[in-house]
Amino acid sequence: NTITVIDREGSPSQVKWEPEQTLMEALRDNDFPLLASCGGTASCATCHVYLESQVVAELGERSEDEIELLEEAEGFDAKTSRLSCQIAHAQSLDAITVTLAPEE
Ligand code: FES
Repeated sequence: NTITVIDREGSPSQVKWEPEQTLMEALRDNDFPLLASCGGTASCATCHVYLESQVVAELGERSEDEIELLEEAEGFDAKTSRLSCQIAHAQSLDAITVTLAPEE
């Protein structure tokens, strides 16, 4: 997949998202400033991103852990916020736009 990532300064760039990566790993491995301090276990919220609201809707329910963390995260938005470590690669997610959330 090739996705568009908007950094915290608002600049877009194109990034490759390999099948074996979660979205968090794709961002981190492409040197975006994502702490991902818990390593992808849905317990830190430092991998918080915004997706397009229709993409979030298509992805379906967030886990309870994810919702709890997101609700306390800086800049939480019910329609667009996700923990990027909880998003597995999928063909249907080609060409999405991912916006980095403010730093915790
Ligand atoms: Fe910690 Fe995603 S990396 S919640």
